[in-house]
Amino acid sequence: MGSPILAPSMLAADHTRLAEDIKLVEAAGCTWLHVDIMDGHFVPNLTFGPQTVADLRPKTELFLDVHLMLAQPQHFVEAFAKAGADQITIHVEPSYDVGACLDQLKDLGVKRGVVINPRTPAEAVEPYLREVDIVLAMTVQPGFGGQSFQQDVLEKTAQIAKWRESLGLDFRIEVDGGVNAENAPLCRAKGVDTFVAGTAFFKSEDRSLFRKNIETLD
Ligand code: DX5
Ligand code: ZN
Repeated sequence: MGSPILAPSMLAADHTRLAEDIKLVEAAGCTWLHVDIMDGHFVPNLTFGPQTVADLRPKTELFLDVHLMLAQPQHFVEAFAKAGADQITIHVEPSYDVGACLDQLKDLGVKRGVVINPRTPAEAVEPYLREVDIVLAMTVQPGFGGQSFQQDVLEKTAQIAKWRESLGLDFRIEVDGGVNAENAPLCRAKGVDTFVAGTAFFKSEDRSLFRKNIETLD
C-alpha cells in the first residue's frame, strides 16, 4: 500500500477564484489536486471543462487528478490529457467500452484509473486491475460535495486491497466523498492510500495540520 496522499477537491473551492484557492492547497503542503468533471447526464450537476484544466496547468505544479463523471468519457479524455491532466479516472457504470478508453489513456501518456459508485460491486473493477494506476471507490453518490461518508464502501476497498496484494500489484486505492479526519483512519485500515477531501479540507481551520493528519496515517 502506498504512503497516504491527500487530494483536496477543487469542487469545494470558490469557482470565481480557483487560482487563489489552489495556492491554499499548495500552502498546506499538498502535492495533489482532485478535479471533478461533471456532465449533467451521468451525474445531475455541471462543473468544469478542459479549458479550466488548461488555464490552471501553467499556474501550478500540483498533480492534477481528474475525475471524469461523464456518460461518454471516451470523447473527452484526449481534451483533458492535452489540457494537462496528470491522471484521469473513468467510471465503469455508463455504457461505453471501458477497456478501450483505458487504452486511449495509455496512448495519451497519462496515469489512469477506474471509478465505482457506492452501489457498484467491487467485481466491476476486477478486469482492469492489471492496467490501472488507481482505483477510486466513491464514498458518496457522485454529483455534489458536502454529503455524508458511506462507511460500508470500505468493505469494497478491503476487497480491492486483497486483490492488489494477491496479484502483486501496486495501484493506489482512493476514496472520494465525505472524507474527513475522523473517517480517514478507518479508510487507511481498509487499504486506502489516497484521500479526496473537498469540504473538510477547505473548511478546515488549519489546512496544513489536516494534511499532516492524513499523510501521517500508518
Ligand atoms: C463528488 C465529487 C467529490 C467531491 C467531494 O461527486 O466526486 O470529489 O468534491 O467533496 P466532499 O469532500 O465535500 O464530499
Ligand atoms: Zn471526485
